Parts: sequence; C-alpha cells; structure tokens
Amino acid sequence: MPDPSQWWCSAVVYQIYPRSFADSDGDGIGDLGGIAERLDYLQQLGVDVLWLSPIYPSPHDDNGYDISDYRDVDPAFGTLEQFDQLLRDVHARGMKLVMDVVVNHTSDEHPWFVESRSSRDNPKRDWYWWRDEPNNWTSEFSGPAWELDDKTGQYYLHLFTRKQPDLNWENPEVREAVYEMMRWLDRGVDGFRMDVINFISKPADLHDDATDTRGPIGRDAYICGPRIHEFLHEMHEQVFAGRDGLLTVGEMPGVTVEEAQLFTDPARGEVDMVFQFEHFNIDQRKNKWDWFPLHLPDLKHSLGRWQEGLAETGWNALYWNNHDTPRSVSHWGDDGEHRVAAAKLLGTVLHLHRGTPYVYQGEELGMTNVPFESIEDFRDIESLSHYAEATAAGQEPEEVLRGLRWMSRDNARTPVQWDASEHAGFTTGEPWIPVNANHTEINAEAGLADPDSVFHHYRKLIAFRHEEPAVAEGDFTMLLPDGERVYAFTRRHGDTELLVIANFSADAVTPDADREWAGAEVVIGDPGDSLALGPWEARVYRRSR
Ligand code: NOJ
Repeated sequence: MPDPSQWWCSAVVYQIYPRSFADSDGDGIGDLGGIAERLDYLQQLGVDVLWLSPIYPSPHDDNGYDISDYRDVDPAFGTLEQFDQLLRDVHARGMKLVMDVVVNHTSDEHPWFVESRSSRDNPKRDWYWWRDEPNNWTSEFSGPAWELDDKTGQYYLHLFTRKQPDLNWENPEVREAVYEMMRWLDRGVDGFRMDVINFISKPADLHDDATDTRGPIGRDAYICGPRIHEFLHEMHEQVFAGRDGLLTVGEMPGVTVEEAQLFTDPARGEVDMVFQFEHFNIDQRKNKWDWFPLHLPDLKHSLGRWQEGLAETGWNALYWNNHDTPRSVSHWGDDGEHRVAAAKLLGTVLHLHRGTPYVYQGEELGMTNVPFESIEDFRDIESLSHYAEATAAGQEPEEVLRGLRWMSRDNARTPVQWDASEHAGFTTGEPWIPVNANHTEINAEAGLADPDSVFHHYRKLIAFRHEEPAVAEGDFTMLLPDGERVYAFTRRHGDTELLVIANFSADAVTPDADREWAGAEVVIGDPGDSLALGPWEARVYRRSR
C-alpha cells in the first residue's frame, strides 16, 4: 500500500481533451488559450490535477495520439510559451498538470520514422518493427496490424492506425530517446498519463497469436509483454526517481489485478496507478460494438475484486469516462427523465471507492451521448474504420450505426457545453465536430447557477474526499454483491465508518442494509427518514463506531 499521505491518494484528476474543451481563437478547435480562460471554473470544481490529452505537433490521424514531435506544441493548440504560462497559472491556483505521453508508437511523420523507413540500412531502421512477412496480428482499429512500405519492400507494425508505427523498445537507443524526451518534467510538469504503456514490450520473435480471445489478435502476445516491468522500472529510475510530487498513471488495456499489483507496488518503482479496463468491458461480448445491458452484480464483482486486489499493495485509478468511452450517464445511467440523479449517483459511487478518481470533461455537467444521425456525423478514425470494415463485410449500415451511437468515442469528443448559445460557448467559429443539441439545457452556466446541479454535486464529492480521511484511506467492503439494483459498500478508517448506497434503477427500493444506519448522518445526498431510495438515488452515511 502506498503511504496514505501520498498526495494523490486524496486528489481528484480532471481530464482535458484540448481539441474539444474551449476554443480561444475561433478556428473551431479547442486550444491552450481556451484552457487558460477556464481555470477559474476548474478551480471552483476543486480538482487537484489537470491531465491534458496530447497537445504535441501531430498530423491528427488519431487526434494527437499520433505524435510527430514530442518537444513542441501543435500550432492548432498554441505555443510552448503559452504552455509555460498555462503551467504557471495552474500552479498559481494550487493545481498540478500532467501530460499525456504516447510512446508505444509515434506518428509516421515523426522524424524517427521518416529516417527508419528511408532505407533498410538506416541507423534508425531498428527503432521500429520491420519484417519481410507480417504475423497474424490485427490492428486495434480494424484490419491487419502491418503495412507494406513500397520503398523498402518490408512491412512495419502498427497496433493502431497505419500512421502510428510501433516503436521497438528492445532497442536501448529508443528507450534512451524516450526518457530524454520525458524530461518535460524539467519544464515543471507534474507527471504523465502513459498511453497503452503495457503494449510496449513485444516478444522479440513477434510470434503469431494462437489464441482466440476477445479483442484484436495479438493481444495475448503484447499485453504486459516479456520485458514490461523491466522497461517501466528503468523509466522510473531514469526519469522519475528523486523527484517529488509527481503522478504517473499507466493506461493498461487487458491488465489483470495480479499484474496491476506489481505495476503499482511502490517498492518496485514502476508507476503510481493504472487504468484498467475490466469493468469497462463488463457489458461487451466479442468486441466493443456488441454489448448487452449491464448486469449490476457483474460490475460489483469486478470493481470489488480490484478494490480487494489492491488493498494491501498498489493503488486504483477510478474512472467511468474518458475520451475513448461513451458518456457514462447514457451508458450505465439514465440520460432521460432521471439524468441528473443518475449522473450524481455515478459520481457518488465512483468517488467513494478507494483509489484516485478521474473526471472527464463534461462528466461534471452530466453530458450525454450524442444522437448521431449518419456516418457523416462521426470524426473518429476508429469509428470510421469500423463502419467501413463492417459494412464491407455485409453488415447492415443501420445496425453498425446502432453500435457506433452506443460506443463511439465521438460521444465523448463533442465540445464541452459551456452555455446555451449557438456552439455552446465552445467557439465563435465552426466547431470541428458539432455540439450536442442538448447544450441548450445541459451546460456549465446552468450547472453553476443551480445548487442542485450535477456540477455542484461533483464539487461536494471532491471536497468530501479532501476533508474526510475515510474516503482516501479507509478500507472497502462490498455489500449485497448479488443485488441487481443496489450498489452498496462501506469504508472504514479508525472509528469512522461510511456507508454508500445507490439505486441503479428507476424504481424506488429499500436496500436490505443494516437498519442501524437509518439514523446515521447523511453526508452526501438527500437525507431521508429511512434507507429507502428513489429512482437513481444515492446516499452516503457516516457514523462513529
Ligand atoms: C489509447 C488512447 O486513449 C486512444 O485515444 C488512442 O487512440 C490509442 N491509445 C492509441 O494511441
């Protein structure tokens, strides 16, 4: 277990997807100037850390997760000087700033790859994975994971788009160049969110994946590959050791609890916490486009296991939303009649777990999925590739669109809804992706003005974590694991005990919980006379033992 006085145990992180956050210059793309203008809002919310999705120069094949220069800022977002000023402004408000680092792959327009592809004997040839024959791996974004490069007649590996070639971490020069680049820390940044960092170690023979598991072929070979712990420890030693006050979080699709214990054991010096995906895949069959309605006990079973698994060693990162997910209130809540209650409930349940919560922009407003009409409304390369592949394979376009409306990453990427005006106060120009029409009702201005809003609820949850040690440090016990409607758990720290009860349904319920709690202090939610909960209602009780 980390020392509970580690600052990030009681911190809340807010993720900014800069392209969709706020546009200060009217070009329809969010930028650093826009973030600077909204710092008061973020401070009012009370978050401790801002994580910026990539702002580096990029051809934007995958919205910046294809980096062509790790040392600069993309002109669409601003300049290095603006970045330095933003960092000072963030620090002056007592917040920290964490950068996104994407080093499983670069853009194909990064000078390293341009050199690598220039000839078979270029000194950087071995910085990427080149082969005469591809193996059977498929891309995370549909189609094969290999692209034939005509110039030299070999194939290169790309686990994502063909414009995102994978770096060869077996080569020590690659690792050194990455660590060198990560000295962004010298500019004063406070840590990193590391993109698909458990994909960086591939088996050197790149053998075929013989398993038939869920998800892209190859995952069994490269998820938490043979040298992953060695590489992350080396990075820790080279980049983070001896620096205080940092936060490092590894994005790790497919990571198991057992692996996560190793990654986040402070004694091993790898990362502080990981984003795991198990709970996120709980309602999916073969792939993310093929889902079934949430069975609540499955979610409890999964999150409960992670709480238990990292109770003694390691630490959880907690999230419902990010730039790759649909909006949680639509996905697992209710975005109709009970939207406000459901958004508050999801926030309460997540923030009261043990771990560091992450809020994705707009989540604190209860922003919803988007009623996309046709494929022309989508921008995301993953969604567009899936549509092309699925319809070419004979699937009905309307059926494919149904999957996209539910799961597309574009649901999270429409602009933040600041007010009820034409483009939701996001831009004075034409937004790169249209705003959700419901911005006339759901927006920050309205949220700030209404004391009962989702925004003010999130503000209270964040403040509660700061004030009540049982939230950050208390142990966790899941209750009613088989209950299909009620999510309930306790947290205990010293002689303080908290009970969280949440009704994941539109029917009123009376949970079968310890009656003694009925008289306890309600610290979050509306005090009721009994433990009865209305539709999508959640409550947190506190008592002393
Ligand atoms: C995970 C990121 O969160 C996602 O947005 C991106 O497309 C892939 N990694 C590739 O970088």
